[in-house]
Amino acid sequence: EAPAPKTVQELVFEEEEIPEKYIHREYGGHTNDAFPYMEIPTIDIGLLVSSSNSAADEIQKLRSALSTWGCFQAVNHGMTPEFLDEVRKITKQFFELPVEEKKKYSREVNDIQGYGDDMILSDQQKLDWSDRLYLSIHPEDKRKLKFWPENPKAFRRILQEYTMKSQWISEVVLKAMARSLNMENNCFLDQYGERAKMDARFNFYPKCLRPDLVLGVKPHADGSAITLLLQDKSVEGLQFMKDNQWFRAPIIPEALLINVGDQAEISSNGIFKSPVHRVVTNSERERISLAVFYIPEPDREIEPFESLVDDSSRPRLYKKVKSYVDIYFQYYQQGKRPIDAAKLQ
Ligand code: SIN
Ligand code: FE2
Repeated sequence: EAPAPKTVQELVFEEEEIPEKYIHREYGGHTNDAFPYMEIPTIDIGLLVSSSNSAADEIQKLRSALSTWGCFQAVNHGMTPEFLDEVRKITKQFFELPVEEKKKYSREVNDIQGYGDDMILSDQQKLDWSDRLYLSIHPEDKRKLKFWPENPKAFRRILQEYTMKSQWISEVVLKAMARSLNMENNCFLDQYGERAKMDARFNFYPKCLRPDLVLGVKPHADGSAITLLLQDKSVEGLQFMKDNQWFRAPIIPEALLINVGDQAEISSNGIFKSPVHRVVTNSERERISLAVFYIPEPDREIEPFESLVDDSSRPRLYKKVKSYVDIYFQYYQQGKRPIDAAKLQ
């Protein structure tokens, strides 16, 4: 039997040379601080659900953020800074376990859930400098508890709480997105279905002696409707592309960074942008993050809302798609931009 491929964490300890399959020749070898900060808007989630006069302003701000950068920093979202620190702590504690211990939760062939490194989908693919734990968290019957760590002890309890709060935040944001487009509160939620799914991806980026050669995550846009990201408290690395330039995302420790995914770009007929982003690594410090993807039910038809299509001023940009996540991975594997699969020619 062939030995199991090494996780990035093992490589860091055991190898001196960076294997070719991690090296991005086209990547310009910049460190994160060579890039300007993005001016990412901050949005008060509490205001989005209030009936105060400032609610309308906040909703306008949301529309403007999502149609330019495609993302915003969410504050006052109902999770305390102490709770977010606990979430970061269980993430760190899990990745700090000995590799043998983590491998009890290893991904199986043909399953996305579990612990592992970048999934190898094709021979030419460059691999991300990261290890991860991918778990379906909602609805409950999609969970595979055998992949849910029991060590650290608090892991499952905290993830359960994070799931409930993330679901609430996602729904508030999707309703506010609808209102910002002058549509019924529930139109995104209705299109995505009652059993819309949430998946969590815990990311660990080991330090890298040659951050100029590798990427923590390759450039991509998300296949979700929206994504909620909890960043490391002090180590940067995430970058967004706008107007063909990379910008680095600043850290606000108490915030969640929320971005549009391809499916909300499709539903909004391109008004909301699913931004391309990547992660760069760092030679001194490792980094963690936690992404939660809000994913429509696979058999739902995702298409631009009628009221956002106007033959003269805003022609329809996307066709109807189903099971977009499957299409996403097929395109991604071929090195193509997944949302192009949904574009009307
Ligand atoms: C991702 O695109 O999922 C990675 C985000 C991050 O680690 O900051
Ligand atoms: Fe992403």
